[in-house]
Amino acid sequence: MSASILTARNLSKVVPGAEGDLHILHALSLDLRAGDSLAIVGASGSGKSTLLGLLAGLDQPSAGEVTLAGHGLAGLSEDQRAQVRAEHVGFVFQSFQLLESLTALENVMLPLELHDRADARQQAATLLQRVGLGERLSHWPRQLSGGEQQRVAIARAFAAEPSVLFADEPTGNLDTHTGEKITDLLFALNRERGTTLVLVTHDERLAQRCARRIRLEAGHLVATEQL
Ligand SMILES: Nc1ncnc2c1ncn2[C@@H]1O[C@H](COP(=O)(O)OP(=O)(O)OP(=O)(O)O)[C@@H](O)[C@H]1O
Ligand SMILES: [Mg+2]
Repeated sequence: MSASILTARNLSKVVPGAEGDLHILHALSLDLRAGDSLAIVGASGSGKSTLLGLLAGLDQPSAGEVTLAGHGLAGLSEDQRAQVRAEHVGFVFQSFQLLESLTALENVMLPLELHDRADARQQAATLLQRVGLGERLSHWPRQLSGGEQQRVAIARAFAAEPSVLFADEPTGNLDTHTGEKITDLLFALNRERGTTLVLVTHDERLAQRCARRIRLEAGHLVATEQL
C-alpha cells in the first residue's frame, strides 16, 4: 500500500458573517494515498470549493490540520505553503484564472518555466494539443470560449506534473464529448504518473470513474463511498 499523500483531520472553516459566525465546514477528515482518485459531490453552497482550497493549501482552516505530501500545512508560513504548492499541486479553479496578458501557450508554459524546463514551449504546445487546442496556441484568454479557457487551465495544471491535481468542476463548462475527452486525460495522468486526483464535480459519469466519492451537505461529510 502506498503512503498517504493527503490527509485532513477535523477540518473546520468558520467565517464571520453579518448575522454571526458562518460554519462552512464541520470537522471533516479524510485520507488519500498516492494514485487515489476522489470525487467531492454535493449541492451548490455545500462547501466543496472551500474544502478544495483548504486541501490544496490555498486557504487556512479555522481548526484542524492538512498534511500534503508529508508537509503539515498548519506549521508553514504563506511562502512555505506556496513552495509546497509549487512542488506538489496542480489546481484547476472553478473560474479558470488564466492570466489575461498571456496567450494560451504562455499560460501553460508558465509553470514549466518556473520549474526551469528547457523544453517549456514544446511541452506546453504538446499539452494544448492533448486538450484539443493545438490551433489556439497564440490566442488570448478573452478570445477563447469558456470551455476552451477551461481546457487551457487543465493543460496548465498538468504542466508541472503535480503529485496531486485538484480540479473544481473540470467538465462543468464542456459539452459531453469534450468533457469525456478531458476526463480520459485526467485518468490517463492518474494511471501513467500516479497523479492523485481530487475533483469537485456535478458530473455523475466523472464521479463514477473516481475510486472514492464523498458527499457534502451544508459543510458536513454525509457519505463516503469506496469502489
Ligand atoms: N470567504 C467567505 N466568506 C463568507 N462566506 C463564504 C466564504 N467562502 C464561502 N462562503 C460560503 O460558504 C458556503 C460554501 O461555499 P463553497 O464555495 O465552498 O460552495 P460550493 O459547494 O463550492 O458551491 P458551488 O457548487 O456553487 O460552487 C456558501 O454558502 C458560501 O456563500
Ligand atoms: Mg464551488
